[in-house]
Amino acid sequence: MFSMEKRDVHSARKRMISNVYAKSSLQASPALRKICDTILCHRMVRRIAAAPEGVLEAYELFSAVTLDVVTAYIFGLEQGSNFTEDPEVGAKWLYDYKSRQPYLFWIQEMPNIFHLFSKLGIGRWLIPDWVGQKSAAIEDQCLEWCDAAEAAILSGKAAESARYYPTVYGQLRSMLKKQGKSAEKQNNQLNQEQRLDLASEMLDHLAAGFDTSGITLTYLAWELSRPCNAAIQLALRNELLSLRSTCSTMTTESGMSMPSLKDIDDLPLLHAVVMETLRLHAAIPGGQPRVTPANTTLGPTGAEVHGIPAGVRVVSAAHSLHRNPEVFPDPSRWRPERWLDEKGGVDGGGEKARWFWAFGSGGRMCVGNNLAVLEMKGIVAAIWSNFETTIVNDAGMEHVDGYLAEPRGSSDGSFLRLRCGKI
Ligand code: HEM
Repeated sequence: MFSMEKRDVHSARKRMISNVYAKSSLQASPALRKICDTILCHRMVRRIAAAPEGVLEAYELFSAVTLDVVTAYIFGLEQGSNFTEDPEVGAKWLYDYKSRQPYLFWIQEMPNIFHLFSKLGIGRWLIPDWVGQKSAAIEDQCLEWCDAAEAAILSGKAAESARYYPTVYGQLRSMLKKQGKSAEKQNNQLNQEQRLDLASEMLDHLAAGFDTSGITLTYLAWELSRPCNAAIQLALRNELLSLRSTCSTMTTESGMSMPSLKDIDDLPLLHAVVMETLRLHAAIPGGQPRVTPANTTLGPTGAEVHGIPAGVRVVSAAHSLHRNPEVFPDPSRWRPERWLDEKGGVDGGGEKARWFWAFGSGGRMCVGNNLAVLEMKGIVAAIWSNFETTIVNDAGMEHVDGYLAEPRGSSDGSFLRLRCGKI
């Protein structure tokens, strides 16, 4: 979906999937409920509690947890990854995944030059062979997850238990089957083209969904843990503990579960903390491209938009939109209270909503934005109702200047080292 250029093809695909990412579907989803209880309340909290001297690398933790949540929602909890409980494998996945990123520029932005170099047998001057090998390994892994989800559907386990239910995969699968030839609709098997189409789409979703949330959470944890924001951390904890069934004491095996996702979603300060982090530290601050349409009725000549001819690529960047001082006074400061009204309720409408672009807008807007926000709120709730956090080393917390803005990391390989003390 991400890379479908033609508008009608893109929107047809988006319509097939978007209902499983609607806020109401997410809040009511038994599969997501199981995912949050298992991954956030148990696996994640246990990993933090077991960290030597309570110290851990935040970016690694958040990447593992967000990948686990996203793959669990896409492929089913039992079929998805479990990097939260396997920190070494999770860190390797993260570094393999990220190490390819600087080279993807050539394929995305200069494909003709790259193809020319490849034809001349010198493609590796631009993109070394190991990048392709690592990408192939990620694709193989995605296909494995898809095949496991397929097996859960065919065996009937997916229908019987929320732990096996592959929400996103299952949704697109049934839509593709409906579109298939009538003879194919009779049997429940996928043909090879459908299998690969599904795998390609699912790879887009897991790639779009894990690092973005992991980056945002790393900046959120950094801001909350700074001495200057100690009062906000305390106020947030009090707000979280005010929920009737809190996430605290989740480290036990007593079957303690999360409060409802709706109750978590409704907490004003938690909402403000997430929104302010998405504003100041947008995980995708770089330019979002659009092509001015041909045959438009918008321009006076029928072929231009605001004086820009048809067929021109234009970009807009969240980084700049989020720093308009008329909408966000004192824009370079992290101030969650700007998203609250004087009574402490949520105040996110009007101009602020119009200029907020962390998830883009329009037909190409992030399809997973509701999942991202709910998941991040769940993670924050589970951590800060159980632990208080302080910074051990934040020398690596500077934005990389790129499409994605993960922290640069410091020379010792650390991004953000946090101390998590049990409360
Ligand atoms: C903090 C977390 C996230 C951020 C900041 C983010 C941001 C974005 C942005 C900026 C876009 C492009 C929007 C545009 O061009 O206007 C996008 C697209 C997309 N995102 Fe997200 N995203 C996040 C989480 C997720 C999650 C959790 C998923 C799914 C599991 C997801 C799936 C997608 C997909 C499939 C697209 C392509 C949509 C399309 O082409 O119509 N994202 N995201």
